[in-house]
Amino acid sequence: MNSEQVRQSFFEFFQSRGHTLVHSSSLKPNSPNLLFTNAGMNQFVPYFLGERTPNTRRVVDTQKCIRAGGKHNDLDDVGFDTYHHTFFEMLGNWSFGDFFKKEIIPWAWELLVKVWNFPKDRLYVTVYRPAEGEPAGFDQEAYDVWKNIMLLEGLDPEIHIKYGGKRDNFWMMGDTGPCGPCSEIHIDLTPNGDTQGELVNAGSPWCIELWNLVFMQFNALPDGRFVELPKFNVDTGMGLERVAGILAKTKNFTDFSGLPSNYDSDLFSDIFHAIGDMSGCQYNGTTPKTRSNLSKDEHIDFAFRVIADHVRALTFAIADGIFPSNEGRGYVLRRILRRAVTFCNNLKIPTGALAKLSKVVVDKMVGCFPELKKESETIYKVIYSEELSFRRTLDRGLEMLDDLIKNAKNRIITGKDVFLLYDTYGFPLDLTQLIAEEHGCSIDVAGFDAEMDKQRTRARAAQKKSDILVSDNTNADTRFIGYDLGNNNDCLCKVIDVLENGKFLVLDKTPFYAECGGQASDSGYITCNDKKYTIKHVSKSKNGQILHELNEPIDGIKNGNAIIAHVDEHGRLNASRNHTATHILHWALRKVLGSHVNQAGSSVDPKRLRFDFNHFEAMTSEQVREVEKLIQEKVLSCENVVIYETEFNNKPADCIANFDEKYGDIVRVVKIGDFSTELCGGCHVSNSSEICLFKIISESSIAAGIRRIEAVTGDEACILANKDADLIDLLSKKMECGEKALVSKINDMINENHEFSLKIREIRNSELKVEVERLLTTQTALENGVMKIEESLHDFSADELRNIA
Ligand code: SER
Repeated sequence: MNSEQVRQSFFEFFQSRGHTLVHSSSLKPNSPNLLFTNAGMNQFVPYFLGERTPNTRRVVDTQKCIRAGGKHNDLDDVGFDTYHHTFFEMLGNWSFGDFFKKEIIPWAWELLVKVWNFPKDRLYVTVYRPAEGEPAGFDQEAYDVWKNIMLLEGLDPEIHIKYGGKRDNFWMMGDTGPCGPCSEIHIDLTPNGDTQGELVNAGSPWCIELWNLVFMQFNALPDGRFVELPKFNVDTGMGLERVAGILAKTKNFTDFSGLPSNYDSDLFSDIFHAIGDMSGCQYNGTTPKTRSNLSKDEHIDFAFRVIADHVRALTFAIADGIFPSNEGRGYVLRRILRRAVTFCNNLKIPTGALAKLSKVVVDKMVGCFPELKKESETIYKVIYSEELSFRRTLDRGLEMLDDLIKNAKNRIITGKDVFLLYDTYGFPLDLTQLIAEEHGCSIDVAGFDAEMDKQRTRARAAQKKSDILVSDNTNADTRFIGYDLGNNNDCLCKVIDVLENGKFLVLDKTPFYAECGGQASDSGYITCNDKKYTIKHVSKSKNGQILHELNEPIDGIKNGNAIIAHVDEHGRLNASRNHTATHILHWALRKVLGSHVNQAGSSVDPKRLRFDFNHFEAMTSEQVREVEKLIQEKVLSCENVVIYETEFNNKPADCIANFDEKYGDIVRVVKIGDFSTELCGGCHVSNSSEICLFKIISESSIAAGIRRIEAVTGDEACILANKDADLIDLLSKKMECGEKALVSKINDMINENHEFSLKIREIRNSELKVEVERLLTTQTALENGVMKIEESLHDFSADELRNIA
């Protein structure tokens, strides 16, 4: 069987047992705490917790997973061995409160042994047996079912059933959440298959886990307790690459002479062929024993594996809208890409190789993952532009690293130097570490972290804002009442804390919006004892207080005093226009450029809006105009803006949330018409028509793969339109023609000018000729065969002087 047949057979086996086939969920998890979808269960957590009811209680699927960064991080091992991956497919089947151990265990055995013909005497299973202090008790139920199977198969349960504690046989996705004991099925791949299970969980590539059957019985709480779930569930996970690799290498279990590798499977063969063609090298399947002093073949094979694995991760991640960037999951992806580019460089493969390889991945995988085809151009362009920008600095960085390795005292590269490589050449820490290790050097990670901290401190100090003050009064919470526009003027509030001698006030409630989520704070003033005090800035402290900074302190103000708040309503309206327009812009960009567009930053104030988003190339002016047109259409079609609060878990399925942000249990949903739904705490107009007019003023690049749009709405857009009209007026006057004739008249003028310049140049050239002839008669000496002329020339341009020479 090849990988496709394994996948298909897995689906069919469980479909014939009442399971519904569902598509893999996105690699971008619907959970703020997770970098990537790292297990099949991610999308089903609400079902396990009983928070949502599934449509069906039995599901089968293959899940795209990335394990790089976070709790399950395999990046360093990828390429070094033959069975770790950043990206892999997890075949799984699921019971949501339906069947349990006595069904799934026999099914798993049946599929492996009866359907796929795995040699049963090479299989070993594990059962949870907790050590002292570990959760729950011995998994007697699983043991009994396994024992029964072993006896029926004529296998000795004493030998074929092994035990493991929390580390190996209790599965948790993170530190909290649904979890439970598990039974793993391992295979002995040694030539004779006679290890009696001694290699199970011993870190040997000769005995590897095939399938993990997890019995979800508990919910791990943050306080360390494990409470039983309302219903018991099953979550199984089988690595497709492993199974396909074993089948390929052993030729369907007929040849155990060599060590199977995941890279032997057809999932990698097309990519390996392409790498071979590009590099002129050949894959020989060697694996290094140590991290340094690799042989030539080991170097080459290591590189093949890294490049093939990483390009799969990149292709799938980008198709799911995860882009290389400087933070969070985007940074992990950038590290993966840079690691791959470095290995391409080692094999002397030119720039653009990874982008080309992404097409090979798409072709191979598109049958099961049609989303790849749809995004294939985006994938190519994103990878290409990242490759290009990293290659520009790679050579210089490698040269520097080479010097550092040569001169490393005690074979340790200092944290300062590693940081310099990171900061100047974009070398991620683990990349430097990897190259250093290959040359028998280590790096000072603590020193690097210290440098990183210093940089963060410098960056914080360079920020305009000073650290936000925090009131000692922990009861000093402020209620924000400014969404209701009726509260924005003459609003009576009570002072509940005074800081810095009256320069900062905390109020019991406030209509002033505090800077947050990219929206600038409101301006306005307060009155106290009939005197006006201008509001300089309003900010939120981490304790939930809203701090009002005044232009001048209020003498003698005390807790309990009353003040009257007045928000600058015009400024607020303009900021709201810009904020709603930002949401519409986000929608329009996705429509024009593609669904890969995601917010990478946003800033909104009464004057303008700024929206940063991921996209791999500059927008054309046609695209910019198209975006403007779409937005203006939405302004003119008077779309209602509906805002409501709901539980995070009940937010609309199609809603855009910025998952790099942390949301509370209750979120605020902003829905414009029926086309845009986003989680947002900011201020908005109640109908899109209030935006009046939308104009983009610039589109530019701010970092690799990140574009920025600045735009204006309402008053500012009108001012901009008037300015443009004034300019045209001025030009028409100067050119003495009407607006319509302006362009052709300017063109005529340019052409005329061009002709004049040519004529002038002719005249000057003949003058020059005369001058040159005159100079030749004045030559004074020949020095070493060089004619020497000394002359002071005026009235010639630099170019002309060069020509004379
Ligand atoms: N959740 C388990 C794992 O990821 C089985 O699917 O290994």
